[in-house]
Amino acid sequence: MSSTQTPVEPACVSPLKSVTHSTAPSSIIESKAQPICKPLGIEVPEYHPVIITIDGPAGTGKSTVARQLAARLGLDFLDTGAMYRAAAAIMIDRKIPEDDIGELVSTVLGADLHFDWQEDPPTILAWDHPIDHRIRHEDVTGLVSFVATIGELRHHMVRKQRVIGAQHPRLVTEGRDQGSVVFPDAAIKFYLDADPEVRAQRRIAQLGLEESVGLEEMCQRIIKRDKTDSSRTDGPLVCPDDAIRIDTAQHDLQGVVDLLEKLTRERISRLIGTE
Ligand code: DC
Repeated sequence: MSSTQTPVEPACVSPLKSVTHSTAPSSIIESKAQPICKPLGIEVPEYHPVIITIDGPAGTGKSTVARQLAARLGLDFLDTGAMYRAAAAIMIDRKIPEDDIGELVSTVLGADLHFDWQEDPPTILAWDHPIDHRIRHEDVTGLVSFVATIGELRHHMVRKQRVIGAQHPRLVTEGRDQGSVVFPDAAIKFYLDADPEVRAQRRIAQLGLEESVGLEEMCQRIIKRDKTDSSRTDGPLVCPDDAIRIDTAQHDLQGVVDLLEKLTRERISRLIGTE
């Protein structure tokens, strides 16, 4: 899609509740995506959007849970952390100093971050090149919390995410602000949580860092990141009032996915039934 195209409203949907769609400037259009109406694995009329938000701190298994939930329900999956990570990778690789926010924002806008929805999970591209291989590196993880505090950049990401929501109206989207800021009218919102120590153990195992990083150190890193994520002015990490909070320490991964699937099916049935 060229940079002059306007966002495409899917013809096959109308809002279940009022899903927030933005009239976005052309530069932030999810440029490669066409509107996709996936078959839903649950009984919802074809024309209803179903946006499911999953927020919460690092190490709660959000990404894996969101991906599996999306697969079970036949929905698309959006990893919004990948967008902030991509911005951090760009900042490092282009050697943009921390005090040159203007340069960072204009470079990220110029990169036209977008996802390749043909891949499963969708891969993220900058300047039309995949950068998935880069965004989980330690240096990116170390900088991304700072990048995510930059208001101008967040506004850009939020607009992009709303365009993606309009183009992929059957979506499980995970991050920190998806239910609170980006999709306040989502059909169902989850907030996954767990003690920092539990999350630190998971992070070490997930990244295979058993030999190099101690539990205490990882715990401190996680607490520091939580603090940065929760205390920023724009889109802080919060549990929305209308979200279902789940303590993931109480379940294994499959248990969390099972629970979310059950709650989602119940909620969607109620929403359809009460219209
Ligand atoms: O979920 P993650 O670890 O990939 O997120 C990377 C960083 O991006 C993390 O510091 C929180 C931030 N983030 C955010 O501020 N808002 C989002 N919607 C998603 C991630």
